[in-house]
Amino acid sequence: MCNNDPDRIARGAGESLKRQGRFITLEGSEGVGKSTNLARVVAWLEARGLEVVQTREPGGTPRAEAIRRLLLDPGGEEPLDTDAELLLVFAARAQHLARVIRPALARGAWVVCDRFTDATFAYQGAGRGIDPARIAELERFVQCGLAPDLTLLLDMPVEAARERLAERGAAPDRFEREGGEFFTAVRRAYLARAAADPERIAVVDASRPLAAVGTQIETILSRRVSP
Ligand code: TMP
Repeated sequence: MCNNDPDRIARGAGESLKRQGRFITLEGSEGVGKSTNLARVVAWLEARGLEVVQTREPGGTPRAEAIRRLLLDPGGEEPLDTDAELLLVFAARAQHLARVIRPALARGAWVVCDRFTDATFAYQGAGRGIDPARIAELERFVQCGLAPDLTLLLDMPVEAARERLAERGAAPDRFEREGGEFFTAVRRAYLARAAADPERIAVVDASRPLAAVGTQIETILSRRVSP
């Protein structure tokens, strides 16, 4: 699969990256305000005349959204095996990349995605305890070197995020039912990834008022992405 990948061919040939569009992802635990801030990122880019494709993971295409429902559905007698969960996440990602993300980047659009593979390292890796080396293998297999250009990590203390989530009052999905320990591991893993790759991952203090968070995001965008 990777042999036909245009990004890889361009890199392998030592040429500059051919694709024109950029890939921006938003990450963070549930309750940190990803949706609101995603809208802000999209508005900022559109105000600069760019074509923006807003999407999410798991999901982003009808079949990938069907996989999302499988992953999030808390019901049923049969627990979901952790390896099966990991493979479903990457199956949805492969479909999403093929049908939405790669075509959009190839035509020069900017893709803004609610979560991507950092979430897999955080949730399936730190949360479920899967060896990150196995996740990295699937990442190479499915993404063939494609990674976000910029990731905004919305960070806040676990308890505060859980309080915000509870205020929404919606029935919790399969992940939201996890306890504080799970989300503490998820947060730690996200922060460790940001510390290891500060060029790509910018940490945003999401515990502040929405307007301040928005201003910080716009500052990061103006510094790090030049349309
Ligand atoms: P959300 O988009 O509403 O935050 O819900 C998606 C859920 O899926 C969230 O709990 C995190 C989880 N998830 C994973 O466990 N692994 C992944 O790779 C992704 C993208 C999401």
